[in-house]
Amino acid sequence: MRYGHFDDTRREYVITRPDTPLPWINYLGTDAFFGIISNTAGGYSCYRDARLRRITRYRYNSVPPDSGGRYVYLRDNGSGQYWSPSWQPTQRKLDHYECRHGLSYTQIASAYLGVRAETLYFVPLDETLEIWRLRVSNERDTPADISVFSSVEFCLWDAQDDATNFQRNYSTGEVEVADGVIYHKTEYRERRDHVAYFACSEPLAGFDTQRAAFLGAYRGWDRPAAVERGESFNSIAHGWSPHGSHHVRLSLAPGETREVVFLLGYWENPRDQKFDPPGSGVINKALVRPVIDRWLQPATVAEGFDRLRESWTSLLSTLRVDTPDGDANRMANIWNPYQCVVTFEMSRSVSLFESGIGRGMGFRDSNQDLLGFVHMAPGRSRARILDLASTQLATGGAYHQFQPLTKRGNNDIGSGFNDDPLWLVLGVAAYLKETGDASILDEPVPYDNAEDSATALYVHLERSLRYTLDRLGPHGLPLIGRADWNDCLNLNCFSDTPGESFQTTVNKDGGGAESVFIAGLFILAAKDLAEIAERRGLAGDASSYRAAAEKMAGSIVEHAWDGAWFRRAYDYFGNAVGSSENEEGQIFVEPQGICVMSGIGVQNGMATRALDSVREHLATAHGIVLLRPAYTRYHVELGEISSYPPGYKENAGVFCHTNPWVMIAEAMVGRGDAAFDYYKRINPSAREEIAEIHRCEPYVYAQMIAGKEAPTHGEAKNSWLTGTAAWNLVAITQWILGIRAEFDGLRIDPVLPAEWPGFTATRRFRDATYEISVRNPAGVSGRVGHLLVGGESIAGTLVPLAPPGATVNVEAVIR
Ligand code: GLC
Ligand code: GLC
Repeated sequence: MRYGHFDDTRREYVITRPDTPLPWINYLGTDAFFGIISNTAGGYSCYRDARLRRITRYRYNSVPPDSGGRYVYLRDNGSGQYWSPSWQPTQRKLDHYECRHGLSYTQIASAYLGVRAETLYFVPLDETLEIWRLRVSNERDTPADISVFSSVEFCLWDAQDDATNFQRNYSTGEVEVADGVIYHKTEYRERRDHVAYFACSEPLAGFDTQRAAFLGAYRGWDRPAAVERGESFNSIAHGWSPHGSHHVRLSLAPGETREVVFLLGYWENPRDQKFDPPGSGVINKALVRPVIDRWLQPATVAEGFDRLRESWTSLLSTLRVDTPDGDANRMANIWNPYQCVVTFEMSRSVSLFESGIGRGMGFRDSNQDLLGFVHMAPGRSRARILDLASTQLATGGAYHQFQPLTKRGNNDIGSGFNDDPLWLVLGVAAYLKETGDASILDEPVPYDNAEDSATALYVHLERSLRYTLDRLGPHGLPLIGRADWNDCLNLNCFSDTPGESFQTTVNKDGGGAESVFIAGLFILAAKDLAEIAERRGLAGDASSYRAAAEKMAGSIVEHAWDGAWFRRAYDYFGNAVGSSENEEGQIFVEPQGICVMSGIGVQNGMATRALDSVREHLATAHGIVLLRPAYTRYHVELGEISSYPPGYKENAGVFCHTNPWVMIAEAMVGRGDAAFDYYKRINPSAREEIAEIHRCEPYVYAQMIAGKEAPTHGEAKNSWLTGTAAWNLVAITQWILGIRAEFDGLRIDPVLPAEWPGFTATRRFRDATYEISVRNPAGVSGRVGHLLVGGESIAGTLVPLAPPGATVNVEAVIR
């Protein structure tokens, strides 16, 4: 069952009924001012940091769901009837409803009582404000007298404090209303230099800034007193809950359309120019007013929207593919790169499942997010890499998370997730392969942001590897620390206290719990760093990294091969985890993916054996589950993984992030049918038909789909902010279609499903454009047998770098 459809030409998902199984959201903003918006206009905005600079309020886990948003109310003053053109919060049965989620914008259109409304929401490039462009049309054959009310609820900046510290916060709220603009200025009188503003292009019939006045006593957003009576209260908030609402009256002739622009913005004044007159406590509006005036002009808005759309066209043009599979094309060309941009921006901070106060930017997460982003925006990737590396510790370890506003490591969660530093090597390697910009390796970068500690970035990478090598366990495999990629595999934590965090509790000393996953990841990182070292003329370094990788591979083969698959770990006591010896959790997906990706067993059959085991034990119609059998009871020696009910999250859910590793591994062993089959199973577009089972948005990946041991097998959760986005884009474009940036050229090494006749693609790479055409005349799942570059046959599959500006024709034939 569907709730809408894709409009590929406009790069939109069109939702045609408002009561989707869950709110289906989109993101606004691409740089500093961000928000989420649901298909019924729910959501909130923030400036840079969803915890520390929250602009509007949203109530997570509310009843009814999705409460708080960018609401517009329309009131037919003739009859006194009022409604929400976005359906929520009044939930009137609209005559027509359509929400179009596009790339960084959302447009919600509806009709009721012969009045059409269409609201376009977006954040213009390089601005710290969002626009709501409302168009109201009178489709009756009589004049219409319509009241428009806007509504936002301001958050008192720190979202955590805002939701908990009521004894203070009910007394601090302050606003100003000047020239039709509502300013939210809580704490501006003291240490904050920023305000929020809410402006409207039309003359106001009234306004409200105190939530209690606008809504009326004991009322919700579904029947605000001001809207019901058709007149604002002109309230000024003193404490309690500052709110913003404009009232505009429109007299519309039959057939007439009027446009009203609302702006919700964030503004920072220089500290010495905060007040006007100086020292008065009144906001100095001289700097912000011109910005407001400019963006209230319909022409500026139209131009701003065009620029936003063009910027997406240009971002997405780095790689375009045309394959025989519609779901693959749609995801690879539009939605998957879009989700990669969102994960790059937001890391794991803001979604319907991430409250914006729990987690900031993840170290491992952000490095992986880069893998799906770097080709679109190398400059921003470079800056992110330097920020990430600046939170690395001198030991080579890393803070697990950092706050985007301060860029400082987050002390609450600390470090000790022993995989973290290795991801930095993969992130930097991806950047170098994409850009060839070796200068980044010489950038001085501090440790833990301590200024006098800077070394070249290259040294950070060395320390990342060293961190693993300094922490090997009894089998020569890396010690796991608090956890590895699997945050829930907490082999040293032995937690028996309710509510204690599995990730931050004091670990038990003295154990030698080891991770096979980190071992595989280490090999990938060491091989990358060897290539980097070689190109820096450090042949000695290169060979020592290669030797370390080889040694690690030896330890895996010797101690982690279980007979038919790779084991997952050794626990505190030295017992195998993810082995046929175990009663539960006999086989895990992560080591099968990462060990094969690192090259182990690709030559001798071990790799295909492990992948056959994945198919036999872990694959389901809804994707590959993380482990099997699920843990049915709590294993204190394993930690959080066994705390989830069977089939959910890390306990045998389809943890989608791991699936592309298996796709890549299948491609590496040359099995294109298997790789693509797994790709289709979790492709959201391919799951659109089962939206009532999947429930999350059909245009983006979710972190998790309930596994086969769960009662709700197939149900997705935690959509949007997941490493699944980057890795799936890597799997389909770099391994199945086989178009990979490498240090010295563009690799063309597709591993396709046998039935595909071929595909074409355009890839911009290091200032040249590659027009790629791959043919599979024999209908086989083979490898490239013949490669023509500019009409000339070349050996191998690496297309050499072309001069800047060149367009290169690449033709490959599969045999
Ligand atoms: C979450 C985390 C990620 C972790 C994964 C597996 O998605 O963001 O860092 O690797 O869970 O536990
Ligand atoms: C929980 C989740 C995991 C996430 C972690 C973040 O353990 O299961 O997916 O990575 O929290 O702290």
